[in-house]
Amino acid sequence: MLFVARVSSSDQPGLRLRLAHEARRIATQHGYLDALESTTLRALERGDAREMADALRAFAGALDSHFALEEQVHFPALHGLDAGLAAEIGALVAEHGDFHQTLEALVAHAAAGAADRLRPEVLAGFGKLAAALRQHEEREEALFARSIATR
Ligand SMILES: [Fe+2]
Ligand SMILES: [Fe+2]
Repeated sequence: MLFVARVSSSDQPGLRLRLAHEARRIATQHGYLDALESTTLRALERGDAREMADALRAFAGALDSHFALEEQVHFPALHGLDAGLAAEIGALVAEHGDFHQTLEALVAHAAAGAADRLRPEVLAGFGKLAAALRQHEEREEALFARSIATR
């Protein structure tokens, strides 16, 4: 990556500003995702099987877009500043894959039968995913805060 190769100590203030901007974007998106998670949860609690599957699909779509932005824009910016973050970033990217797969399985499950029978399992699965996602978001925000503070 040419951009990374050209980074020098004199570029650090500009990179730090850019990183601060990216950190705000990430936090804003996490807020939107948390709100969408609440909406999805309501659909899972009250909806029929089709509504449950549709709500999960919409949540999965929003999550995938967020993950793509992180992987294509935010994480490369972090890595450009500190290549030592590669392992931490790699772990976050691997979790993106896990979240995606879990949601796909939940969509398939919700689409497969009667809502009343499915609801407890789908709610339990989504609750677990939501808790893991909050932790994931907190780690990302902490990683950005740490990088901005130390650059
Ligand atoms: Fe992420
Ligand atoms: Fe994120």
